[in-house]
Amino acid sequence: MLGVLAVSGLGAFLALLLEIADTYIADYGEQHIFVNGERDLVVQGGKPLLFALGEHGIYLPSACGGKGTCAYCKARVLEGGGPVLPTETPYLSSQDLENHIRITCQVKVKETVRVEVPDELLNVRQYHVRVLALENLTPHIRLVRLQMPAASEGFRFKPGQYVQLEVPKYKSTSGPEFRAYSIASASHEPEVLDLVIGRVEGGAVSTYVHDYLKTGDVVNIRGPFGDFWLRDSERPVLLIATGTGLAPLRSMLFQIERDRIARSVTLFFGARTRDDLFFFEELREVEKRLPNFHFVPTLSRPAQGDAWEGEVGRVTRLIDEQIPEGAQMDVYICGAPEMVQSCMELLEKKGVPSDRILFDMFA
Ligand SMILES: Cc1cc2nc3c(=O)[nH]c(=O)nc-3n(C[C@H](O)[C@H](O)[C@H](O)COP(=O)(O)OP(=O)(O)OC[C@H]3O[C@@H](n4cnc5c(N)ncnc54)[C@H](O)[C@@H]3O)c2cc1C
Ligand code: FES
Repeated sequence: MLGVLAVSGLGAFLALLLEIADTYIADYGEQHIFVNGERDLVVQGGKPLLFALGEHGIYLPSACGGKGTCAYCKARVLEGGGPVLPTETPYLSSQDLENHIRITCQVKVKETVRVEVPDELLNVRQYHVRVLALENLTPHIRLVRLQMPAASEGFRFKPGQYVQLEVPKYKSTSGPEFRAYSIASASHEPEVLDLVIGRVEGGAVSTYVHDYLKTGDVVNIRGPFGDFWLRDSERPVLLIATGTGLAPLRSMLFQIERDRIARSVTLFFGARTRDDLFFFEELREVEKRLPNFHFVPTLSRPAQGDAWEGEVGRVTRLIDEQIPEGAQMDVYICGAPEMVQSCMELLEKKGVPSDRILFDMFA
């Protein structure tokens, strides 16, 4: 047993040494990245493909900031990516492998690379934006309001999409870090962008946002990204969120109101206590203005002093009790992965086809 531990420990140590040598000693000189058979980018060799593309203004989706844990940064690498690494294989299906799909934050540019990037991602831009306002919506959730450039300068998004927010190096990080945050504001007012950011204990970006970010600071935003947006259909809409998962659904609600979409819309919003139920009054106001909108908040652990007379329990209980078998509806779910998974299973049991359920998982 001790022998096995010693050998695997030595293996890990050697792998670390190789990684350090590769990062700090190896010199791969200038290399070329050909994008979509057209653009020829010259980069300093040795960098992860994701970041080398970013330096030239080509931003791929990413939720983990390049740590190799989200698999959002997939792209087709036709030449020069080297062998597929063990850090990539858990995220690549056999079809991905056949199609030369790679996890671009894990692929280092050590020779000429040919990569395919979807055309819509070539429109993603980076913006330096000022923090207009910060507001604590709950003890753990903060609203970050950003001043974006005028719409004429190109920032447009579909309600439901997200941006990457980059924060500078601070005492808990070794460099700038970025993460994905859904846009919580109206797409017809793209000059002001709202993000709703929950504190994750020990989290690099969320801790910065909660403890260090100040009104007037300038941060980098890249986007828009994602395909979680309201699809055209005549069917009723069911929106389901817990916690900060409300962010993209709020943006969709602004769209529904502005475009006078006549479909019936129900929002199930789950929180623990009344204090965690942010945007409550705002959503009640939307309900007054929109006769086809029904807001159903539910508390999983109402506090003693909450004097709560609404629904109690998780959002899954609302699905169980309020959604009939064979319901014809389009569903949009957003929040923690376990909640999204449980809701999907329940809805599918009720006969809602999986292609009518869209979701974004915040992890
Ligand atoms: C498409 C998309 C949209 C998102 N939109 C939002 C949004 O609107 N608002 C929002 O607050 N977040 C959102 N997220 C989550 C966000 O991107 C970050 O993952 C989150 O803020 C944590 O980042 P961090 O740098 O603070 O923590 P990290 O430094 O990335 O993580 C630190 C540790 O916490 C763990 N961890 C990470 N996230 C969580 C979590 N949620 N709960 C418990 N542990 C966690 C990690 O595994 C790690 O061990 C979204 C994610 C995706 C993929
Ligand atoms: S950016 Fe998350 S896995 Fe590559």
